[in-house]
Amino acid sequence: MSNSEVNDYYELISQLIDEAGKIIESRNSERKLIEQKSSDIDLVTETDQQVEKLLIDGIKAKYPNHKFIGEEDSSSGKKAELTDDPTWIIDPVDGTMNFVHSFPHSAISVACVIEKKAEIGIIYNPVLGQKFTARRGQGAFYNGQPIKVSGEKNLSSALLVTEFGTSREEEKTKVVLENITKLVKIAHGFRSLGSAALNIASVALGGADLYYEYGIHIWDFMAGMLIVNEAGGYCCDPAGGEVDLMSRRIICASSKELADEVVSHLTQFYPMPRDD
Ligand code: IPD
Repeated sequence: MSNSEVNDYYELISQLIDEAGKIIESRNSERKLIEQKSSDIDLVTETDQQVEKLLIDGIKAKYPNHKFIGEEDSSSGKKAELTDDPTWIIDPVDGTMNFVHSFPHSAISVACVIEKKAEIGIIYNPVLGQKFTARRGQGAFYNGQPIKVSGEKNLSSALLVTEFGTSREEEKTKVVLENITKLVKIAHGFRSLGSAALNIASVALGGADLYYEYGIHIWDFMAGMLIVNEAGGYCCDPAGGEVDLMSRRIICASSKELADEVVSHLTQFYPMPRDD
């Protein structure tokens, strides 16, 4: 894939995301029509569906052979499949619960993966005007300015971010609370923005030092993972080792040292079903 082709993809997706952002921004404070997905706290609104359609239709119109892994598409039971073809991984509104409550931390998250490598990652919160972007090998940016992770190595000085997630499954909730109970005693601080993508972007920005979560999906973290890597950070599985893209588990950190320290404390959980 030539660089100029990826440039064209970047230009197209940037335009589509700006257009989609206007829809989200204009609806943020309105009352939303909500449907439930896997649980009563896993939500979808008509805006999620409309934004996903706008992005997919806009890309298909120019590149009919490109593939898609979209959050709303997948909620109808379709499994995520990553081939060597250009594949767009889309979460139209990451942080839907926030969007429903007009809590202004939700974002469009889009990654373009070619030959299984993330080439483009964009996370855009139109309500607060926060845009995080990255191209493979070209660094990470916040509203056009270069960003770097904090580089923090020690858990005792680190600001951690995690989420309670979108399931009320008993075993999972137990592990989530157990990990928070352990880490809150050691870490400098703990935060939860309600959007996996924005949590990960906060690590890339150097504001937070490490994000971990069990139960997220590939569309929640794919763009963020590229942005963190391009900002000099480190992403791994919560048990250590390479991220398994379909396993619904991740750590995004400011350094490998900090990730390793958190790994040594975490009780593990393997969400089912996987994304593939
Ligand atoms: C969810 C949010 C939430 C995280 C979940 C995600 P959605 O995405 O990012 O913060 O805890 O794991 O699935 O459903 O709002 O797009």
